[in-house]
Amino acid sequence: MKLGNTFVGTLVLAISAASASYADKLTLYCSAQEDWCQLMARSFEDATGIDVNMTRKSSGETFAQIRAEATNPKGDVWWGGTGDPHLQAAEEGLTMEYNSPMRGELHDWAISQAESAGNRTIGIYSGALGYGYNTQLLADNNLPEPSCWKDLLKPDYKGHVQMANPNSSGTAYTTLASMVQIFGEDEGFDFMKGLHANINQYTKSGSAPIKAAGRGESTIGIVFMHDAVAQAAAGFPIKVVAPCEGTGYEIGSMSIIDGARNEEEAKKFYDWALSAEAQNLALQVNAFQVPSNTGAQTSDKAPDMSTIKLIDYDFKKYGSSDERKRLLQKWDEEVSTLPQ
Ligand code: F6P
Repeated sequence: MKLGNTFVGTLVLAISAASASYADKLTLYCSAQEDWCQLMARSFEDATGIDVNMTRKSSGETFAQIRAEATNPKGDVWWGGTGDPHLQAAEEGLTMEYNSPMRGELHDWAISQAESAGNRTIGIYSGALGYGYNTQLLADNNLPEPSCWKDLLKPDYKGHVQMANPNSSGTAYTTLASMVQIFGEDEGFDFMKGLHANINQYTKSGSAPIKAAGRGESTIGIVFMHDAVAQAAAGFPIKVVAPCEGTGYEIGSMSIIDGARNEEEAKKFYDWALSAEAQNLALQVNAFQVPSNTGAQTSDKAPDMSTIKLIDYDFKKYGSSDERKRLLQKWDEEVSTLPQ
C-alpha cells in the first residue's frame, strides 16, 4: 500500500509529538522542605522544558511508597530526605545504579554515600541534628535553658518537647540512631523513653516541631539545626542548640528509582541537581544545609559544621535494612506505647 507524502509526514509528526510529550516529563518524589522542592521542580522545568510532577513526603514515608510501588514504579527520582532510607532502598534494590558525570565536583562525603550503596544513591547536602527552642515561651514558663540532650529529660519540660515519628520522618530516625550511637543501645533507648514522657506530639514531618515552636504552639523542637536556623531567619524567637554530648548528622541524598518510566529525564535531573547552579537555589528559600557540590555556596547563616561536636555516624549500619527495621520496631514496641 502506498501512503501519500502528506499523510506520512503528518503521521511522523503525530508520533514524534506523542513520544515527546510522553518522554518529556518526570515524576519527582521530594523529601526536603516543600518550598525548596517546588523551586527545584520549577527551575528544572525552566532549564530543560521537561514537565515535573512533584510530590513532597517525609523520608520514611517516601521510602514506604517506593517499596509499595516496586512492582509498578510510578516515581522517577527521589530527591532529598535523610540518607538512611535511601541506603535501605539501595540495599533492597528499589533504586538504580548510576554514575553521574558530575561526581568530580562533589565533596568526599557525598561520594562515600554513593560508594557505600553500590552507586544507587548520592549525597546532595548535609546537616547536623540538634534542637531549637522558643525563647519567649521558655521565659514565660520559667524554664531553664537547655544545652544538652539529657537536659530534655528534665520533668520541667513535660509537654514542652516535640519531635517527629521516626517511622515517617528521617529527622526523627536520625535522632533515634544518634542516641543509640552516643549513649549505647540500652542507655539510648532509656533516653528515648524518658523523652517520651515530655513529648507533646509526634509529628509526621521532621521540621514540623520547630515550625510549631516558631508559631509559639510548642516550646522545644528536635530537628536538624538548619531547620531551626530557618525559623530564626524568618524572624521567629528561636534559639538553636548544638547539644553538648555531641550529635548525629544527615547526608541528604538522591536516588533514581529502579524501573523509572522516564529514566533519561531522571538522569538529566540527577546531573542537573548535582550542579553548583542548581544547589545554589537553596539560598533563595532559606535552606541552610551544606551543599555537596564543592563550588556551591553555603549561606553564612548555616550552622558551622566545623564547630559542632559531630559523632562518627555509622551510615552503613544505621542505613541497613535490618538495623533500620529493628530500631523502628523496638521504638514502636518499647517507647511509643508507654503512657505519658
Ligand atoms: O526540612 C529539610 C529537612 O530537614 C532535610 O534536611 C531532611 O533531609 C528532611 O527535611 C527530612 O525530613 P523528614 O524528617 O520529614 O523525613
